[in-house]
Amino acid sequence: MSYFNQIQETTSYLLNIVGRKPEVAVVLGSGLGRFADKIEITHRIPYEDIPHFPPTTVKGHEGALVFGLINGRFIVAQAGRYHYYEGYSMNEVTFPVRVFKFLGVQVLLIASAVGGIHENFEAGDITVVTDHINLHHENPLNGPNDERLGPRFPDMKDAYSPRLIDLALEVAKNCNINLHKSVYAGLPGPNLETKAEYNFLNIIGATVVGMSTVPEIIVAKHMALESCVLTAITNKCFPISAIKEVTHDEVIEVAQKAGEKISTVAIEMIDKM
Ligand code: HPA
Repeated sequence: MSYFNQIQETTSYLLNIVGRKPEVAVVLGSGLGRFADKIEITHRIPYEDIPHFPPTTVKGHEGALVFGLINGRFIVAQAGRYHYYEGYSMNEVTFPVRVFKFLGVQVLLIASAVGGIHENFEAGDITVVTDHINLHHENPLNGPNDERLGPRFPDMKDAYSPRLIDLALEVAKNCNINLHKSVYAGLPGPNLETKAEYNFLNIIGATVVGMSTVPEIIVAKHMALESCVLTAITNKCFPISAIKEVTHDEVIEVAQKAGEKISTVAIEMIDKM
């Protein structure tokens, strides 16, 4: 079956179950428990029940689409993400985003954990992404282009919606939350970067670095899906002298603290968009 037909089959399956089109899709990164708690859940559909959704590899990692209401708006949340470094293909990593578009979603909100590579960014800070630098060696649009999904050569201007960036900054200000603007360097991982690599990323104009998000945003722009990315800085990587060894527990703790702030901003944005 073609990729396009798989997307259609998955979309019909989900619409048959939930019975209405979600307006917003939220991709939940680490530490967004508070956001998930705010959803008045109508349906929770595990990946294994969804046709063409790849099975999750990591034990104990939840994989489900959660449909429900946030402030009266019907949304879908992707709880559990497919990362390229786990061995998924770019088509698999970005399959949920393709489906969101055909479900009728108007806005894609992505939350993700990053390293901070600007001297003013501290662990626990949050950012809204204004642009990216793609350093993946593979592209989700590689291969024959299906015009039903989008154009052969999509432009990347405003891949990060200026309207949603302004909204994020406005709601953060109203909530007394400090929200930096950032440029996201996307790398495949799974290792973190060397000191020389963090230095290089700073020199080329990136201010945060992460292992997800960029493939999803490329695909969202391909389909003209308006998108916004909020990041949680889990580790400070610049200047190089500030880099410390961190334990996984510390990373989780920081991600949770930043996740609270991201949840607040995301919920307010959904209310006002
Ligand atoms: N590098 C890449 N991805 C990350 C990092 C990092 O330092 N921290 C969290 N995600």
